[in-house]
Amino acid sequence: MANFLETLSFLILLSFFPPTLSSPRPSRLHRSPKHAPRFLGKFSCSNYTGPLGAPSYRYETRYFDQDLDHFSFSDLPKFRQRYLINTEHWAGPDQLGPIFFYCGNEGDIEWFAANTGFVWELAPRFRAMIIFPEHRYYGESMPYGSGEEAYKNATTLAHLTAEQALADFAVLITELKRNLSAQACPVVLFGGSYGEVRNSCIQCDEKIFVIVRFIKFLHQTVLAAWMRLKYPHLAIGALASSAPILQFEDLVPPETFYDIVSNDFRRESVSCFNTIKDSWDVIESEGQKSSGLSYLTETFRFCKKLESADDLSNWLSSAYSYLGMGNYPYPADFLMPMPGNPIKEVCRKIDNCPNGTSILQRIFEGVSVYYNYTGTVDCFDLDDDPHGMNGWNWQACTEMVMPMSSSKKSSMFPAYDYNYTSDEEWCLENYHVKPRPTWITTEFGGHGFKNALKTFGSNIIFSNGLLDPWSGGSVLEDISETIVALVTEKGAHHLDLRPATAEDPDWLIEQRAAEVKLIQVWLDEYFDGKRAVFDM
Ligand SMILES: *[C@@H]1O[C@H](CO)[C@@H](O)[C@H](O)[C@H]1NC(C)=O
Ligand SMILES: *[C@@H]1O[C@H](CO)[C@@H](O)[C@H](O)[C@H]1NC(C)=O
Ligand SMILES: *[C@@H]1O[C@H](CO)[C@@H](O)[C@H](O)[C@H]1NC(C)=O
Ligand SMILES: *[C@@H]1O[C@H](CO)[C@@H](O)[C@H](O)[C@H]1NC(C)=O
Ligand SMILES: *[C@@H]1O[C@H](CO)[C@@H](O)[C@H](O)[C@H]1NC(C)=O
Ligand SMILES: *[C@@H]1O[C@H](CO)[C@@H](O)[C@H](O)[C@H]1NC(C)=O
Repeated sequence: MANFLETLSFLILLSFFPPTLSSPRPSRLHRSPKHAPRFLGKFSCSNYTGPLGAPSYRYETRYFDQDLDHFSFSDLPKFRQRYLINTEHWAGPDQLGPIFFYCGNEGDIEWFAANTGFVWELAPRFRAMIIFPEHRYYGESMPYGSGEEAYKNATTLAHLTAEQALADFAVLITELKRNLSAQACPVVLFGGSYGEVRNSCIQCDEKIFVIVRFIKFLHQTVLAAWMRLKYPHLAIGALASSAPILQFEDLVPPETFYDIVSNDFRRESVSCFNTIKDSWDVIESEGQKSSGLSYLTETFRFCKKLESADDLSNWLSSAYSYLGMGNYPYPADFLMPMPGNPIKEVCRKIDNCPNGTSILQRIFEGVSVYYNYTGTVDCFDLDDDPHGMNGWNWQACTEMVMPMSSSKKSSMFPAYDYNYTSDEEWCLENYHVKPRPTWITTEFGGHGFKNALKTFGSNIIFSNGLLDPWSGGSVLEDISETIVALVTEKGAHHLDLRPATAEDPDWLIEQRAAEVKLIQVWLDEYFDGKRAVFDM
């Protein structure tokens, strides 16, 4: 108990005294629009450049030459992997100072470093070193010298896989420890998934547009869990926040994701849910009228004329999904700046319009909470390049195949049946590659996964907030004494990894405290083991 209180007060203290690592916001928070994942920043014409008020942390940026293909001895050029390192608080090799290793995911690593305050706040307490390695093919860690070359075709993209990325991490950890004579220092893995739902349209014949839903989720949290399972000799444990490791094949029902988002809205207001559910038909029929697209463009204040009503539906669907993920109890900047309890806010706007307000106007008022919270947007801009070469689409077209559908009955989104065949056609057409939908479960486990984990795994925390649509594909129950699920009813997407704030509710403070405690146990056991060997 004393321990728990100590941790609690530590976290409370942190929330009042931001870590000394903080320095004024640097300009480096800006994201590279070309290679950063589509965080929808391009959906607006404002000069919004990054998280508002996000703390920044001090680190050194280094580069490391990696093999492009860890699993063959072909003579391919190496590439420079970027990693961020901070050793300010590190106890050093003699005292077995821990190494906190964040499994970098799809995007510019500096952006993730800036958004993972928990790791920075923990490091001084554990006297740990912090490493944020960048995922290959993202940010600056581009093979073949540039993003343009790396993303050229299926041959150059061939080495963009989770297995290669994990091997990068393994090689980096091993060599870095050797360089620092820190071979005996324990490594703790962190990962928190950022999500992206991406809908693209393909024209099948003159009239019918088939919406292909590519659910892009940035899977580094999955990487942290997989890393612990694949390289147990390199890391003593992993904190995997919002890790949808079961979102593959038929492990969970395909409608799980959209059902959870829908329930997040229904929970706030049934009429809000119904307004959204009814809006799709209105949009579609408006789009079929002669000047309908102009009318929709005007109503939703787009900078350029809409090319199809589906573009508008996708734009709205994305917003609702992100609102589900970023449904935090306090104002935050999850991909976009949002108020606290943003879904409540959206529904308040939709419901509270004067009687007689049209459905479309209500929807516009609601979605403005997401796209124009700061009030600085002059007009909205649709993603300009839906078919653009983009790392996550490649991954979704190769191994990260996650079936998703939207049920007519329970979801507020347009009904959509998962159709693997049409996704496969899209991939062949756009990337000249055929997906392997059963590879991930073959490589990392799926069916019977929990039993295997129980027998062969240890020291993994699966933390989830039930408001988060990704929680449905995650591990929500303890698997063993050391593979535990920390579930919060009111939590959203990897809220626990964000920096502590003064507005943190008790349940969040408790969740973080439980995580700290478990990490402490892993470390204590590791140190005890070392001592036992030493004493022999
Ligand atoms: C862009 O940023 C500048 C300075 O931060 C601000 O004065 C201006 O109003 C912004 N423009 C828009 C369109 O938001
Ligand atoms: C992909 O691009 C590389 C580099 O330009 C080229 O050598 C290779 O032949 C191309 N492969 C295919 C399948 O087009
Ligand atoms: C380890 O040291 C070598 C030699 O100084 C250097 O080339 C290499 O980049 C270092 N590796 C890491 C991971 O820092
Ligand atoms: C709309 O009309 C209904 C009944 O006619 C009334 O109960 C409700 O308060 C009105 N709502 C608003 C926002 O004016
Ligand atoms: C965004 O919000 C501001 C402030 O409420 C408003 O003036 C502006 O018209 C809005 N932009 C759009 C595109 O609706
Ligand atoms: C799935 O998509 C394929 C290719 O677009 C199409 O031929 C097929 O009819 C679809 N299946 C269903 C059940 O809709």
